[in-house]
Amino acid sequence: MSLTDREYLAINQARAMLQESGVWDLEEDLSCLIDRYIERVDKGRAIEEFMLAVQERCNRIPLGHIVGMVEFDEMPLVVGSGVFIPRPHSKIIHKWLEASTALRPGASVLDLCAGSGAIGLAIARRRPDLKVTCVEFDEIAVQYLKRNIDRIACKGVRVNHLQADIRDEHAFTRFTHQVGLIVANPPYVPQSQELLPEWSDHHPQASVYSGADGLELIRQIISLAHQLLSREGWLVIEHGEEQAQAVRELLKQSQLINIQTVIDKEMSDASGSSVMTVGSKSR
Ligand SMILES: C[S@@+](CC[C@H](N)C(=O)[O-])C[C@H]1O[C@@H](n2cnc3c(N)ncnc32)[C@H](O)[C@@H]1O
Repeated sequence: MSLTDREYLAINQARAMLQESGVWDLEEDLSCLIDRYIERVDKGRAIEEFMLAVQERCNRIPLGHIVGMVEFDEMPLVVGSGVFIPRPHSKIIHKWLEASTALRPGASVLDLCAGSGAIGLAIARRRPDLKVTCVEFDEIAVQYLKRNIDRIACKGVRVNHLQADIRDEHAFTRFTHQVGLIVANPPYVPQSQELLPEWSDHHPQASVYSGADGLELIRQIISLAHQLLSREGWLVIEHGEEQAQAVRELLKQSQLINIQTVIDKEMSDASGSSVMTVGSKSR
């Protein structure tokens, strides 16, 4: 293998870091990481590795689960089997936030049903002044969430995580009337709806489906928002296009105002629409 000076220096630095952190099979791990990330793959096996990955994709395993990584809002996130793969559609939330003056500096933000953390982490990266907490209940998803939080922390962006079930209101008492923004891309597919195999067969059921009408967890989020939002707080929820009217009605019943559904046609595609509804406590 011929290395550039930069690669050589990076490998030496990596060796020192691994040694410092107490990794016991240092040279083997280092050589594996060099193979995967610097040499990419052993050229003799490249086609074979490539065809195995293609076969997995043909079996409709999501791309993110095959490559272990997904890019969201210019941010690489670690993902894998057992966690929901963030969809670019969720960027609708960040577009809205960019255009709005809803959030004062230092406000608390909760990303409910956070999965690998895409939405909350992207908010924190764009607005490091905010106090973002990502909430997720699934053990596997939380492992990915924590890894992504640690990765973004290396870039100086702080995000908290809370492993909790959003149906357990007691888990959130410390946030009562303290939250400036709640964002969520919850499971919202009705139980009987047919989906592409990437979602029906290769994602955890609890990350996709939400009761007969798909609104079970959305109702829970709206009820939690009532308890947690500050006087000027905002709620932003992604959902299916055909659920828009029902979600607006639920927000209204919960005394939220400034209710509006936003649909981003540019970001909608064969895998689904990019739709969210917002509402606020006052103003
Ligand atoms: C549609 S996925 C979205 C994940 C992430 N927000 C994203 O956009 O990539 C929904 C997530 O909600 C989590 N979830 C489902 N029910 C939950 C509950 N009762 N409490 C907390 N999280 C829940 C699932 O484990 C899953 O990670």
